[in-house]
Amino acid sequence: QVEAPLKVMISGAPASGKGTQCRMIVEKYGLVHISTGDLLRAEVSSGSDIGNKAKEYMDNGMLVPDQVVTDMVVSRLSQPDVREKGWLLDGYPRSYAQAQSLESMKIRPDIFVVLEVPDDNLIDRCVGRRLDPVTGKIYHVKNFPPENEEISARLFMRSDDTFEKVKSRLETYKQNSETVLPTYSDLLNQIDGNRPVEVVFHEIDSLLQKIPANASEDKLAK
Ligand code: AP5
Repeated sequence: QVEAPLKVMISGAPASGKGTQCRMIVEKYGLVHISTGDLLRAEVSSGSDIGNKAKEYMDNGMLVPDQVVTDMVVSRLSQPDVREKGWLLDGYPRSYAQAQSLESMKIRPDIFVVLEVPDDNLIDRCVGRRLDPVTGKIYHVKNFPPENEEISARLFMRSDDTFEKVKSRLETYKQNSETVLPTYSDLLNQIDGNRPVEVVFHEIDSLLQKIPANASEDKLAK
């Protein structure tokens, strides 16, 4: 019997560590990482119609309209690499409508992971975050400083990582996250994300290892 590839959703407030954990999960499990934030930022930098539409919402810490994001995700999920390697959805679904769109297409994960981190830490993490445009690696000025001067010189900040914008992103998260969770209550795993990166990863890794092969097929068959 051929093993079905893993399907994972990861959620959590801004800067709860989703991107950081996803890099580690991808390295170990080879899943296709689909981050709606990354997809939207790529649209914004390319100056596409979608990007121009999304920019204003993102700059205000608001959710981009459901249909725009859902179309992007569904199109990415239908690519052959995703079917072959499995998927890791990061930052989607983020509203009741988004969750229902996936449900109506019978797209369900094997597990839904939520990273829990206190608000004060989230703000500090966002404001101190720096990104490497070459490797995509995520740094933090205090927690994870760059390895050398060369990397340090090319790091940049996200435009929505200012104190005010983080506060509004956090507010948006709080308004919407509760509406998504009931859809995945049977698959929900809330994890304390306020611990060292490796410790958080270890817990996620143990959960992923417990997922039986063909878990999704079993569920559909019931
Ligand atoms: P998105 O890009 O998804 O942003 P977000 O949810 O705010 O999450 P972040 O990327 O800020 O944080 P993260 O959890 O990945 O943390 P990271 O690992 O980088 O979305 C951006 C915008 O796009 C939204 O506001 C919205 O407008 C739009 N959008 C996206 N999806 C959408 C959707 N589905 N529908 C509608 N609109 C959508 O870590 C953060 C920092 O903390 C780093 O510096 C890192 O080094 C540090 N860190 C990580 N882990 C730890 C740890 N364990 N201990 C200490 N420091 C840590």
